[in-house]
Amino acid sequence: MNVLHIDSSIMGSDSITRDLSAAIVARIQAIHPDTQVQYRDLANDEVRHLSGSIAAGFRQTGISDFPAATLLEHQLSETLVTEFLASDVLIIGAPMYNFSVSSQLKAWLDRIAQVGRTFKYTEHGPVGLAGGKRVIVVSARGGFYADGPFQKMDFQESYLKAFFGFLGITDIEFVRAEGASKGEQSRDKGVALARSAIPDAVARLSAAAL
Ligand SMILES: Cc1cc2nc3c(=O)[nH]c(=O)nc-3n(C[C@H](O)[C@H](O)[C@H](O)COP(=O)(O)O)c2cc1C
Repeated sequence: MNVLHIDSSIMGSDSITRDLSAAIVARIQAIHPDTQVQYRDLANDEVRHLSGSIAAGFRQTGISDFPAATLLEHQLSETLVTEFLASDVLIIGAPMYNFSVSSQLKAWLDRIAQVGRTFKYTEHGPVGLAGGKRVIVVSARGGFYADGPFQKMDFQESYLKAFFGFLGITDIEFVRAEGASKGEQSRDKGVALARSAIPDAVARLSAAAL
């Protein structure tokens, strides 16, 4: 099984999503010792935001004649999409920042959404080309969005679901830690709840992967 493990929190060792995404990967490796893991730390090793020149590596933009630095960015886009396509399972640490994903994670998503590689347009509309993968997103947020009045302000999980759905991936599960900014007790409770969801999430993954 090929696992692509991605972290995108800016909070270093204080990060909830980093801690939990590592726990998920460790559990997968304990159950499946032959698992190959590719790791990307999008906060410590940032993927640059798209520019017209960078996007021209995989989109028709009318821009040509690229300097060497841009050609390296084109190579990176190719590496990122190849890594993504080679994975069976994605474990993504996705903190909620300003109601959505971190800009670091968004920059990575912008590199892997490539027509002809991860989706295509047909006369019946867009079709995802990356189906069959399974995604576990570790989602952490300061407040509470799963239920209640703030549900409609969750553009993080809903966005990730829509994005991966567009690429053909419907098997997406959220291991969620809420209330991280509501005091230590609330943070600990949210993390404990998320941690307790890991064994079942990995068991479902294993059942599907075998
Ligand atoms: C820049 C920034 C923006 C944030 N925006 C939100 C937000 O919009 N809503 C929310 O509930 N929490 C917000 N938070 C709190 C984080 O979601 C929370 O700290 C969570 O634990 C982040 O995951 P991490 O610990 O892995 O970084 C924000 C935190 C930071 C640092």
